[in-house]
Amino acid sequence: MTFTPTDYNPYDFANRRHIGPSPAEMAEMLEAVGCDRLEQLIGETIPASIRQTKPLAWAPLSEHELLAKMREVGAKNRVMTSLIGQGYYGTVTPPAIQRNILENPAWYTAYTPYQPEIAQGRLEALLNFQTMVCDLTGLDVANASLLDESTAAAEAMTMAERVSKSKARAFFIDENCHPQTIEVIRTRALPLGIEILTGAPEALDATQVFGAIFQYPGTWGHVRDLTPFIEKLHAAKAVAVVATDLLALMMLKAPGEMGADIAVGSAQRFGVPMGYGGPHAAFMSCRDDYKRNMPGRIVGVSIDARGNKAYRLSLQTREQHIRREKATSNVCTAQALLAVMASMYAVFHGPKGLRAIAERVHSYTIRLAKALRAAGATLPPKHFFDTITVEVGVGQAGILAAARAEGLNFRKVGNDHVGISLDETTNEDVLRRVLRAFGILNAPLPEGDLAFPEELLRTSEVLTHPVFHMNRAESEMMRYMRRLSDRDLALDRAMIPLGSCTMKLNAAAEMMPITWPEFGSLHPFVPADQAAGYAEAIADLAEKLCEITGYDAMSMQPNSGAQGEYAGLLTIQAYHRSRGDHQRKVCLIPVSAHGTNPASAQMCGMEVVVVKSSPNGDVDVEDFRAKAAEAGDRLAACMITYPSTHGVFEETVREICAITHEFGGQVYIDGANMNAMVGLVKPGEIGGDVSHLNLHKTFAIPHGGGGPGMGPIGVKAHLAPHLPGHPETGGSEGPVSAAPYGSASILLISWAYCLMMGGEGLTQATRVAILNANYIAARLRGAYPVLFMGNRGRVAHECILDTRPFAEHGVTVDDIAKRLIDNGFHAPTMSWPVAGTLMVEPTESETKAEIDRFITALHAIRAEIAAVEAGEIAAEDSPLRHAPHTVNDLVADWTRKYSREQGCFPPGAFRVDKYWPPVGRVDNVYGDRNLICTCPPVEAYAQAAE
Ligand SMILES: Cc1ncc(COP(=O)(O)O)c(C=O)c1O
Repeated sequence: MTFTPTDYNPYDFANRRHIGPSPAEMAEMLEAVGCDRLEQLIGETIPASIRQTKPLAWAPLSEHELLAKMREVGAKNRVMTSLIGQGYYGTVTPPAIQRNILENPAWYTAYTPYQPEIAQGRLEALLNFQTMVCDLTGLDVANASLLDESTAAAEAMTMAERVSKSKARAFFIDENCHPQTIEVIRTRALPLGIEILTGAPEALDATQVFGAIFQYPGTWGHVRDLTPFIEKLHAAKAVAVVATDLLALMMLKAPGEMGADIAVGSAQRFGVPMGYGGPHAAFMSCRDDYKRNMPGRIVGVSIDARGNKAYRLSLQTREQHIRREKATSNVCTAQALLAVMASMYAVFHGPKGLRAIAERVHSYTIRLAKALRAAGATLPPKHFFDTITVEVGVGQAGILAAARAEGLNFRKVGNDHVGISLDETTNEDVLRRVLRAFGILNAPLPEGDLAFPEELLRTSEVLTHPVFHMNRAESEMMRYMRRLSDRDLALDRAMIPLGSCTMKLNAAAEMMPITWPEFGSLHPFVPADQAAGYAEAIADLAEKLCEITGYDAMSMQPNSGAQGEYAGLLTIQAYHRSRGDHQRKVCLIPVSAHGTNPASAQMCGMEVVVVKSSPNGDVDVEDFRAKAAEAGDRLAACMITYPSTHGVFEETVREICAITHEFGGQVYIDGANMNAMVGLVKPGEIGGDVSHLNLHKTFAIPHGGGGPGMGPIGVKAHLAPHLPGHPETGGSEGPVSAAPYGSASILLISWAYCLMMGGEGLTQATRVAILNANYIAARLRGAYPVLFMGNRGRVAHECILDTRPFAEHGVTVDDIAKRLIDNGFHAPTMSWPVAGTLMVEPTESETKAEIDRFITALHAIRAEIAAVEAGEIAAEDSPLRHAPHTVNDLVADWTRKYSREQGCFPPGAFRVDKYWPPVGRVDNVYGDRNLICTCPPVEAYAQAAE
């Protein structure tokens, strides 16, 4: 019998695993939207005038081929023991945390906890993080993470400017700060007209500055009492910022105890691999009276509808959208997953364990310093914690080479010193190798005295809350992490149809390499020959992203979309400056723009001019032209989003770009909606000069419950020379991130995604994202008005459902969002870009069955609204208002005007696998009025076992 093998390819990642609907389901969906073919729908959605002509060409890899390739590329990195320090240290990720958090989709596929009822688990973990940071820094309020230590320091400078009562315009940077921090602050200061003064702390003239930052311990290891400098600042009404290290603070007096107003730093060494630069959670804490000026998100404690304790994001969260160009910062996506990891590391070890780790590191450093001194070496830092700097004169290159021969990286400091930072992974063997690099053999390694003054020894208690005193058995820890993740609704349970957020599949194969040591263990400042694998991966990803976007060059530095906006606008400014166009300051931004757009422009010292929308949601071209003309030679840029934040491919995009260019401006296209364009439209071909890409949306990096993210920017060739530089890798402009490639390790996720999808797979994903959105719009149009359809009645990759008509009957958009929780769904994006609406983005990864479940749920909700409209039940008595329903509701006396069945098991909800929110509707107003941002003394935690 002849044998013809099937042409079914079980390893086709794009069509079998990533894209949700099967071909048969797609046919049914096309019928529902009234199209014969997918290409017909695309033709009716995307204007022909902007379609790209050349398809994306590269071939796809299967999952196993991808993993083999990753091994091969990873092997080109050389993992050495990096003792470089400078903000990045070896650490041991507890396997329980690696497996139960970092490798667990219940944690990494969650979204930012804007809907608190379905996010109590990660909110608790983030509150633990805040409590830990407050305790260790000795300050009152901490936020739930920032992007990296250097940008946190830059945020601290602008925050200091906001709160300072001093009239001075300069900011002082202690020369002991990490070099990348100094440079990132300089970058931030330049467009804001802030003068930067640097020098030794002793050189500080407090009357000249509105604030100052010190590093404690310093970059070369020095530990000193900062109290006198802080007192000088306070006497001049200036603000004191201290960049610090959490592990050192287990032994050292807290910055708050020295009088500091703001503390910043990185939580990397609390169990988060270095990852060639990130992602890691930076932190910021401050005095209570500055809390309303704090950037980023703060988790607070409130109550739910039954008066029970419930966590939620407090004040700042909404600020960006409301305050726009008056926002205190542009931070949106931050580093939630890494903050969760760091907080769990503190829970895992408890104060006793952390103190032991700190003491061990300090003891090794003392022993090393003693041995080196005994051999005649000179060590400038008299007082230190974990870092020493050794004077080596002309022998520097030889010692660095000898260290490398021992498998060690020292830090090159100037031309005649080397720096050595020890960490949790240091052992006696490492000490011996360090000494051998100096030519010291068989030296004794005796213990020594404390290497800093006793007055600086920490005496205050830390981490006293019961959560940090749990029984340390892994069973207990594992269950705690499981309990928290069970409280949350992430992509591992249901679709998350958040418009503009692109909550697509984060495939297991894409995630696996990031925890391999050949990628995880690299310090960001290792010599280039040790990072050849990274170089290959980053270069290939950049090339593919250029091909996808039509740009000529990419910078991989920005750690989020908003950071990309900021970096892109700085690039534009540097370009204008290079042409002598210093007066170009105006940035045109449509009223519908995401709040980060005006906030980023403001950070660049630009003047934001708001452009109107026309009634169909498009940018009002006449208003745009008038405002561009009015700006004339002061026009720096426009910032537009494409397809628009209303989810439509505006036909006029080329015209808007042309007007901007006509007046000498540059076009910034916000790439947050790139999932509607990959393979079909290139922003660089329709008039864009620069765009950021949210790799944590379109390119499969998981959201991590609010970060990490990556926001690389693509630019046209004329802007390429003006992209961000970095002290470690060069370039004429200043850096925008601490590390040259931002959170480099997660770039691998996007690279893996591109490699497995192939060019055609990526294009098909875009088509199906558009199909899924149009299918939802078509099926729901009768029940909810769908706003902003394009000329031919099509939406792009998302659709906006209008719920405002229900307001006159007392039903709010909140009611619908919370009711969806009972149906087992995360709400769509609420009230943005239009108040009172829901913006739905299903992405290509959702199957028809899941989308139908969502549609069923929304139809059922519509029927409940109809009952209110018909006067059958009052809105305040309806299940809509009482949503979400908890187990407490179910078992309490039932006095509601609808049945338990209707309340708790509406259509769409699973009977057996029902998601029960742990709290009822959270009272936001109560939480804002009674702001509590550290762990409350709760009995609900597991009992202390120590
Ligand atoms: C249109 C748009 N621009 C910018 C951003 C900011 O991106 P990020 O959160 O990565 O800073 C977002 C985030 O949702 C967005 O939707």
